[in-house]
Amino acid sequence: MKTQEIINLKTSKTNIPINKIFKNRFSPRVFSNDDVLDKDLEIIFEATRFSPSSYNLQPWYFYVVKKNSSFFEKICSILMKGNKWAEKAPVLIIACYIKDSKYGENHYAQYDLGQAVATLVYQAQDLGYYTHQMAGFDHNKAKELIKDKNHIPWVVIALGKIGDYQKADEKLVKIDNYKPQRKERIFEII
Ligand SMILES: Cc1cc2nc3c(=O)[nH]c(=O)nc-3n(C[C@H](O)[C@H](O)[C@H](O)COP(=O)(O)O)c2cc1C
Repeated sequence: MKTQEIINLKTSKTNIPINKIFKNRFSPRVFSNDDVLDKDLEIIFEATRFSPSSYNLQPWYFYVVKKNSSFFEKICSILMKGNKWAEKAPVLIIACYIKDSKYGENHYAQYDLGQAVATLVYQAQDLGYYTHQMAGFDHNKAKELIKDKNHIPWVVIALGKIGDYQKADEKLVKIDNYKPQRKERIFEII
């Protein structure tokens, strides 16, 4: 299967026109070896900095880990079996929330991290990269890897260019050859 066929399948078809950034985003399991340029990482995190957060506490922190580093191998070793495809991605990001604040425990920290990650995801998409978020990793072991105890690892994000599906593991192609369904209606005016 060609990569373009996967992209065509995954591109969302909407009755109401929406920005292409939302139509084109999806979470692939096949990444290319190409590195993510440092200047692009700067752009991605510059956008992420401006995410809204409760009391403007900005309760997030990101560890960017590039392939071929010993830390990268450590992260790969704590991924759940089903997420082993992520080892091929050129960059893994450990997205952490910060639980404690000057006002005490921040009960909106995870919510705010989610918004920051959404910003990261769409800015990366705009630059031609793909992301795939993962909750499937050993959270306790991830905490041991992170030195700052106030940074709680919450999601690992694979980041990179989409890979060649014609050369990819058949099982991964099969999993990705599927269009996730969306709820039809998610709001009502009351
Ligand atoms: C918080 C979160 C955790 C996720 N964890 C995993 C994971 O561990 N493994 C995986 O393959 N995908 C994971 N995903 C990806 C979702 O399965 C995916 O976003 C969803 O199926 C919709 O597909 P799409 O992103 O391609 O539109 C996760 C997504 C989010 C937002």
